[in-house]
Amino acid sequence: MGETIVALADLRYAAVVPQVPALAPAPTGLLADRLGRPLRDLRISVTDKCNFRCSYCMPKEVFDRNYKFLPHSSLLSFEEITRVARAFVAHGVVKLRLTGGEPLLRKDVERLIAQLAALRTPDGQALDITLTTNGSLLERKAAALRDAGLKRVTVSLDALDDAIFRRMNDVDFPVADVLAGIGAALRAGLAPLKINMVVKRGTNDEQILPLARHVREHFGPEVVLRFIEYMDVGASNGWCMDEVLPSSEVLARLRTAFALEPLAAAAAGETAQRWRYADGGGEVGLISSVTQAFCRDCNRARLSTEGKLFLCLFAHQGHDLRALLRGAQPDGQPWSDAQLAAALGPIWAGRDDRYSELRGAQQAPSGSAERRIEMHYIGG
Ligand code: GTP
Ligand code: 5AD
Ligand code: SF4
Ligand code: SF4
Repeated sequence: MGETIVALADLRYAAVVPQVPALAPAPTGLLADRLGRPLRDLRISVTDKCNFRCSYCMPKEVFDRNYKFLPHSSLLSFEEITRVARAFVAHGVVKLRLTGGEPLLRKDVERLIAQLAALRTPDGQALDITLTTNGSLLERKAAALRDAGLKRVTVSLDALDDAIFRRMNDVDFPVADVLAGIGAALRAGLAPLKINMVVKRGTNDEQILPLARHVREHFGPEVVLRFIEYMDVGASNGWCMDEVLPSSEVLARLRTAFALEPLAAAAAGETAQRWRYADGGGEVGLISSVTQAFCRDCNRARLSTEGKLFLCLFAHQGHDLRALLRGAQPDGQPWSDAQLAAALGPIWAGRDDRYSELRGAQQAPSGSAERRIEMHYIGG
């Protein structure tokens, strides 16, 4: 099959139909991209819809009632997602993260989790399966998610103050319900639980200390609060550097109230720099993709809701895996699992993405911003 750029039915992002090598070498789990980076983490978006309208992700002016979300027929089925995940696991993926939009809006997502939880690495280990949620449905769903095989969860929470939180989600959603969701997740045993706070200077930066205090006092060390630099992801949020609060400043503010000590990375390729409270009160993380890019060890691949594989959060072209899942070989036979896995190898081997690093060095490719994938489409 030749490399063709196809405009798909929904005309969203360009995608290349992967080539299937004539000889399908078995995956070794030792894939490396052009910068020597392994493949370890697959992030799976299960819906492009969300019930929040955070201004840095789905601003209301763009994502209004006229916005065309993906039609149901475009979405990968749970069986298709599991088939893709199995191929990635054969190539060395050990961590799966379900994202959205808001993943808990996808009907019966527990059934997908159960299918993914049954997968094993080539040496028989269970996978690290987690999910990023805005927490709005967590109180209702935590126990069912745990029963389906989910191990842990990450909740996005940008403010403790109810008025600021309602303004940031822009649908008037109360913070108390998200806090109740976090409580329910902890009671269900979804731990360690992470809270991700995107910090926007002038919008919620005054919430850094109140949120840190609340987590320490009400949840304790099994909850890790992480502060994320506001990123120039997508093309609709009107990002500007003035609104980024560098992690160095977040740390300085935390240190006015708490004694903190640096911790070593728990795993290669981690997004967060970790710090522990000297009094044993747990740890916090700083995710600094704007001021200290972490592309060098980036081992993350991203699968969109309709089956396009993206090699970087800032990519504007994907690889159309759905074309292989639903298409056929020239002789009419469906592509086999071995052929699907074989098609992934050269895609990862050809990867040289390192957008954040290039942007930091003022070398980001010009003219690419308008076509960049959106966060609600590909997940965090
Ligand atoms: P853990 O395994 O729980 O530590 O998760 P993680 O930090 O790998 O993933 P998570 O989705 O929680 O990442 C937190 C935030 O970091 C995301 O919401 C993004 O804002 C940012 N982020 C995650 N991965 C990347 C990445 O590959 N590139 C960039 N630039 N930012 C990323
Ligand atoms: N910058 C940083 N993080 C973002 N997220 C969404 N948009 C941005 C952005 N512009 C993160 C949010 C959420 C996750 C889904 O993605 O923290 O937790
Ligand atoms: Fe907000 Fe997450 Fe929904 Fe985006 S996907 S609007 S960040 S809750
Ligand atoms: Fe990975 Fe791209 Fe993020 Fe760099 S910018 S860490 S390459 S996803």
